[in-house]
Amino acid sequence: MCGLIGYIGNRPAQPILIDCLRRLEYRGYDSCGLALLGDGIQVYKDQGKVAELQRGLSLNNERTGIGHTRWATHGRPSGINAHPHLDCAGQIALVHNGIVTNFLRLRQQLTQEGHIFSSETDTEVIVHLIEKYYRGDLAEAVATALGQIEGSYAIIALQTGPKKLVVARNESPLLIGLGDGENFAASDAAAILDYTDRVVYLEDGDIGVITDREITIANNGHEVSRQVQQVPWTQEEAQKTGYEHFMLKEIHEQPRVIQNTLRGYLSAIEPVAPEIAANGDIAQVLLLGCGTSYHAALVGKYLLEKLAKVAVRAELASEFNYHDTLLSKTWAIGITQSGETADTLMALRKAKSLGCKTLVITNVVGSSATRIADEAFYIKAGPEISVAATKSFIAQLVAFYLLALAWARIDTSSRERLMAELRLLPNKVQQLLDGQDDIAELGEYLSRYDNAFFIGRGINLPVALEGALKLKEISYIHAEGCAAGELKHGSFALLNPHTPVVAIGAQDNTYDTLLTNIKEIKTRGTPVIALAAEGDREIDKLVDHVIWIPGTTPLLSPVVNSVALQLLAYYAARKRGYPIDQPRNLAKSVTVE
Ligand code: M6R
Repeated sequence: MCGLIGYIGNRPAQPILIDCLRRLEYRGYDSCGLALLGDGIQVYKDQGKVAELQRGLSLNNERTGIGHTRWATHGRPSGINAHPHLDCAGQIALVHNGIVTNFLRLRQQLTQEGHIFSSETDTEVIVHLIEKYYRGDLAEAVATALGQIEGSYAIIALQTGPKKLVVARNESPLLIGLGDGENFAASDAAAILDYTDRVVYLEDGDIGVITDREITIANNGHEVSRQVQQVPWTQEEAQKTGYEHFMLKEIHEQPRVIQNTLRGYLSAIEPVAPEIAANGDIAQVLLLGCGTSYHAALVGKYLLEKLAKVAVRAELASEFNYHDTLLSKTWAIGITQSGETADTLMALRKAKSLGCKTLVITNVVGSSATRIADEAFYIKAGPEISVAATKSFIAQLVAFYLLALAWARIDTSSRERLMAELRLLPNKVQQLLDGQDDIAELGEYLSRYDNAFFIGRGINLPVALEGALKLKEISYIHAEGCAAGELKHGSFALLNPHTPVVAIGAQDNTYDTLLTNIKEIKTRGTPVIALAAEGDREIDKLVDHVIWIPGTTPLLSPVVNSVALQLLAYYAARKRGYPIDQPRNLAKSVTVE
């Protein structure tokens, strides 16, 4: 959730750190800070955004430093709780992402030993432990200190004296970026793309020492070599390129994203899941994810059951971790854009330990999930910076279409028809984007309300859940996604003229019942916005507003419908004037349970 950056090299560190912190801000943005290493360590940190921190800085020429953007877990957002944290002597500085679960006990013990704590954070115990064990070698002290720590961490530390950074990771992402006469450490590659695209992903238990000329990595006391990888993203992809918000840019990228995900897979569907498609040994599929990725899993469940005729369970990763479960002959699939969501990683580990074969559908090459799962399916959506997931959701859906097609037990002509429709999807989404003015108007209309319902049936029920999540996440309008048939079982009590309902339709076997549900809702004087296929003349007569959706086969309707709901949420939030890319209290990747 927090963003980490470290720089050591031949250029002034301060502007580079600030630049990288800006790019990391989507990971956490309630406070930030940096430490620069000269003869001593200078720390600048405060509550608020990187731009505010930068305003308070004067020019500094030091060539080594570390920085942090915070998403508070222990201790409220404040200047004191912001990272970097220092030891008592002010000779060691540290930034951290993760959670130290045994910090209270360690803090008590260190306090008794005379260490003075200034913040409420769990992080501060790490720097005091390093101080306690320091005997002249920072990396050794870090290794001993981390031996006492329970929980997850990615850390970057520096110390007065010889210029170097010491890095370490356990269950939180961290990589080293390789430059020319300079090196970086960062919690994700998007932060350093302006400087280098050559990176080394650290493994759990790795402790690295970085100077401007070399890096060494050890694990369990033994030196190890880690592969240098090229980041498959461009700088341009990680920037706004003229759009007002990353979210809008990412929504607009979707036609190309769909093409990218399809490319290479569609012409050769078999390689997508070779053994699995042929494997009669799998009795059920278990889909695990959180938030938007969970909604993609719900669509995936529908597709796999319909096309592959296999039993599928979709579970919230955060819940799966806490119940006893029977898994025999199960293929477990984790769905996670970032590949770093703590609950999903835990769920994948648990499924693996229960003997499941595992796959992860992810956007991030080298992410933690790819190291846990047996196989990875990369959705190729490019960097997603806005906290609200948009293009990664659509790419996850496309991944499920491909997977279901690879495994489909349907006749050849049905398969070919579906593949042909899939190829048309980028154009359908583009058509929708080209006509977005009407959706923008409806978004502004929706911004006037404090509550809304989203209803759908069948394969569009997850779309309703996702539409509600998107709206509340960025516009702070309370929204509830609900199965259309469930509304009458309780939520109906809340319907009134001030609570609009967004009804998501598709021309499938749910259509007629959805129309009946809409009629029932209208009897309460409730405004209804319907998503309907172009040319649908029936729904038009029943509802207050229609968002016309370019026609596609009902099975693919979740893609176009979801893009329309993303735009609806975006324009509602924009009208309300909220910080769309960084909604309050949220962070892009939730690396704590
Ligand atoms: O990186 P992941 O896909 O594992 O993230 C899961 C959720 O945290 C994420 O989808 C979240 O719900 C989004 N902010 C929704 O827009």
